[in-house]
Amino acid sequence: MIITVASFKGGVGKSTTALHLAAYLHSDSEALLVDGDLNRSALEWASRGNLPFKVVDEKQAVKFARLYEHIVIDTPARPAPEELKTIAEGCDLLVLPTSPDALALQATLQMVDALKKLETNYKILLTLIPPYPNRSGEEARNAIASSGLPLFKTGIRRLTVFQKAALEGVPVNQVKRDSYAGVAWRCYSEVGKEILP
Ligand SMILES: Nc1ncnc2c1ncn2[C@@H]1O[C@H](COP(=O)(O)OP(=O)(O)OP(=O)(O)O)[C@@H](O)[C@H]1O
Ligand SMILES: [Mg+2]
Repeated sequence: MIITVASFKGGVGKSTTALHLAAYLHSDSEALLVDGDLNRSALEWASRGNLPFKVVDEKQAVKFARLYEHIVIDTPARPAPEELKTIAEGCDLLVLPTSPDALALQATLQMVDALKKLETNYKILLTLIPPYPNRSGEEARNAIASSGLPLFKTGIRRLTVFQKAALEGVPVNQVKRDSYAGVAWRCYSEVGKEILP
């Protein structure tokens, strides 16, 4: 299965999502994470620590792809229309992470609009959901659901343990001495189950 993670807006959790979906899928069968963003977030994450799966850039991907059952591709924000076409048509599932703020939601709707002309299987993922009593996560969920767009049932909570994981170069379930590591991992493993039960 090839899963690509994309968004028009930057900083909405693409790389974090790609990395954790790869970690989830890797527990099923060997996964390859392709870092298709020149900012090289995923490759840097890998270089800081110890990831259980392989991370390569898009050029190496050609060589490695056939060896892996699951491939997750991280992409740069703001892809050009031609680039989006290649991204969308080259995967089995396009995951669109969006934080629950108005700007990110607007960018997601623009992406959905651009995808209409293409044959794509996509699903929106709410990320960076702030804690109660902030209700923006719920409001965003209702807005997306009422427009009938495909949305993951599980959302990703905003938890600082994700930043710790990036610094330590591990997936969040390998962060030690943080009581939120388990909660944070469950967010992505539940999303993973929606993709591959
Ligand atoms: N669920 C979360 N909770 C808290 N922080 C998060 C979460 N997801 C991502 N972050 C942090 O938010 C920042 C942006 O995340 P990330 O790099 O995954 O986004 P991105 O969409 O790949 O960004 P870019 O467009 O720059 O590539 C990072 O510092 C990351 O550690
Ligand atoms: Mg990124």
